[in-house]
Amino acid sequence: MADSPKLSKSGEPQDAAVMPNVSGVTVVDAHSEAEAVAAVEAPAERGEPILQVRGLKKHFPLTQGILFKKQIGAVKAVDGVDFDLYQGETLGIVGESGCGKSTVAKLLMTLERATAGEVFYKGQDITRLSGRALKAVRRNIQMVFQDPYTSLNPRMTVGDIIGEPYDIHPEVAPKGDRRRKVQELLDVVGLNPEYINRYPHQFSGGQRQRIGIARGLALNPEIIICDEPVSALDVSVQAQVINLMAKLQDEFNLSYLFIAHDLSIVRHISDRVGVMYLGKIAEIGTDTEIYDHPTHPYTQALLSAVPVPDPEARENRERIILTGDVPSPANPPSGCRFRTRCWKAEERCAEEVPLLAIPERFQGSDSPAAHESACHFAEEMDVVHAT
Ligand SMILES: Nc1ncnc2c1ncn2[C@@H]1O[C@H](COP(=O)(O)OP(=O)(O)OP(=O)(O)O)[C@@H](O)[C@H]1O
Ligand code: SF4
Ligand SMILES: [Mg+2]
Repeated sequence: MADSPKLSKSGEPQDAAVMPNVSGVTVVDAHSEAEAVAAVEAPAERGEPILQVRGLKKHFPLTQGILFKKQIGAVKAVDGVDFDLYQGETLGIVGESGCGKSTVAKLLMTLERATAGEVFYKGQDITRLSGRALKAVRRNIQMVFQDPYTSLNPRMTVGDIIGEPYDIHPEVAPKGDRRRKVQELLDVVGLNPEYINRYPHQFSGGQRQRIGIARGLALNPEIIICDEPVSALDVSVQAQVINLMAKLQDEFNLSYLFIAHDLSIVRHISDRVGVMYLGKIAEIGTDTEIYDHPTHPYTQALLSAVPVPDPEARENRERIILTGDVPSPANPPSGCRFRTRCWKAEERCAEEVPLLAIPERFQGSDSPAAHESACHFAEEMDVVHAT
């Protein structure tokens, strides 16, 4: 886990200013078609990735006609995404609404079938698995959803909700042992084990999200995909849930893919961050690389919109206002997808898709700017000294 100095052990935010909702957070992007999958370089200390995503695409067909449906195009929700997830780390994925974050999550969970690309779990491509082999992998990759109000079945008790995964994987908890297991899980997420027979409506939003987390943990997974797990919660409760997740990560050596709109929240939980724009990753790196040394114009624009608590830093920073709407994923711009909103765009940007790679000018350098950025003209810009 990255340091989270602003969040106390008790789960209370020590500085409310660090947990704002960054409204209008947009995303980033650029990448290629036949992407020469520039594999994410793994620093030696990270070890082997537990998940490797390569050239992942999901195109939803756009159809016309009622009786005889004819495909007239495709929504390129995810259009060539590459990243690695390492054991025990949190990779934050940030992006504005519609950039493809949930679709990536569903592809990793194999809830959607990929149009192209691979997802390697410990070296095995899970996009090609079915039957028993798929079931075995699914046990190790679980999900926590955004909305604790709608993601829990109101007609089931908490015990049944948390224990439901055992119906599919009885080998983890035989029938006679389930109640004890579920009570243990309630305790692990900070809920009273005696609440086992209660219904979701008898809990607060934060408590319901704890129930969702307990359910995610039921099968002892290695990876948890968290799709905006705190977006629907109050600021103070967000901090408590994030602290709980950090604690559980240490305890169970979990790897998190943590999806969010909010750059601030992602920084507090992530070791690395990937910024998405219109179905692609624009920039990816450690939290220091992304927050203090961003080289992609889109990340720079996003950071310039993050509220800064220090009035002096706020005064002195450069504010980038993005103009224009996000293009439709059914008809993305040629070349760099960000070019219609980028103040640095040149002719080359319309012709050539920028690859997600360490920019040439930084190659061989040990500068924190030497991280992957999908921009032809990637360069550092002192946008904000993120806290
Ligand atoms: N089943 C589907 N059929 C057609 N289009 C879809 C489908 N699911 C998602 N899309 C489209 O794919 C794009 C990406 O959607 P996705 O839900 O992945 O975005 P997101 O980044 O999670 O957004 P949000 O932040 O609002 O949750 C959107 O344009 C969406 O309308
Ligand atoms: S400079 Fe060009 S390649 Fe870089 S983000 Fe802007 S439009 Fe894309
Ligand atoms: Mg989503």
